[in-house]
This record gives sequence, structure tokens and C-alpha cells, in this order.
Amino acid sequence: MKPDGLDRRLFLNLTALSGAVSISPEAEAAQGKPGIINKQTVSLVVNGTIRKMAVDTRSTLLDSLRENLELFGTKKGCDHGQCGACTVHVNGRRINSCLTLAVMHDGDAITTIEGLATNGQLHPMQAAFLEQDGLQCGYCTPGQIMSAVALLKEPCGNSDDDIRECMSGNICRCGAYPNIVAAVKSVRQI
Ligand code: FES
Ligand code: FES
Repeated sequence: MKPDGLDRRLFLNLTALSGAVSISPEAEAAQGKPGIINKQTVSLVVNGTIRKMAVDTRSTLLDSLRENLELFGTKKGCDHGQCGACTVHVNGRRINSCLTLAVMHDGDAITTIEGLATNGQLHPMQAAFLEQDGLQCGYCTPGQIMSAVALLKEPCGNSDDDIRECMSGNICRCGAYPNIVAAVKSVRQI
């Protein structure tokens, strides 16, 4: 439901920034859960909470986050490691969650877009994307933000070209790149 007092544009921005879904979880889940053939139990620390689950050994981390834990903020774009929509942090480092199996991460700390805000306050990078209008449709935005947050701790140069290079694994089909770079720059200057 649209919150009172928010115009449509702001509402869409907030849902994209927080990983909130514009499609209902039920509708996304209904897109098909394959049956578990080779079951294995894994225990992940997801956004600070221990989550135990039985997964198919072939299940990617991306699919497990979405289908087992119903964390739909992490998006599936290409499912081939080419778009960055599925970016999450594993033990503090960004990875494409479509390229790794859930069973490889037993005991690992996973941070998704849902885990960035604290005490109801957006992470500074989420706030910067909102401030700089760094999104249009918002589909790539969770992955962009997860990469941008990881970038803050990486040896990335200060020029716009450096930021573009460090963010080059995250594709935006809407072409919001100039504003994404502006958002990253603004947080790096804090
Ligand atoms: Fe993982 Fe595109 S969905 S890189
Ligand atoms: Fe639409 Fe990036 S905002 S794909």
C-alpha cells in the first residue's frame, strides 16, 4: 500500500532503495521452486541473524536468499554473472550471488540490501542514491548500492573514471550512471 503523503516517484524510490518488492513475494515465489533433490542443511548468518535451511546442493546463493528466505531485494537479472543485480556481501566482500552455491557458504556472514539500514535509518549510500536520483526503474538499484557500499572499503581511485571502473560490474539498463557516480562520490566525501 502506498504510504500517505508520499508521491508516486518518492514511493518507487524508497521501495527500490530498501529492496522492498514492487511485485508481491507470493507472485515471485510462484515463479517456481524446483524440488529439492540433493538436500543439504546450511547455516548462514544473514543480516545478523542465523538462518538454517535445507537447500538443494545445486541452489545458488541468490536463489536460496530469494526462495528459501524470501529476501526478494536481491535481484536476478542475467543469472550469469554479467549484470550485478544479485550483488550481496559475503564476509564483507561483494560477490555475484548468482555465481556461487549456497552450500559453499555454511557459517558465512551474508549482507543483503535488506540489512543495510539500521534502526530505521537508511545507510548513507541508500540516502545518497535517493538524494542524487541514482535510479529510474530501480531493478538494478539494490545491486548497485551493495557494490557502492563495498567500494567504500576497496582501493578505488577518486576520479569519476575510477568510480565507473569500480562499479563496472553493475549494469543499469536505464542509464542512471551519471547520478550513480554522483551518489558514490557524495558518500566518499563524508
Ligand atoms: Fe547475477 Fe546478473 S543476476 S550477475
Ligand atoms: Fe533501471 Fe538501473 S534504474 S536498470
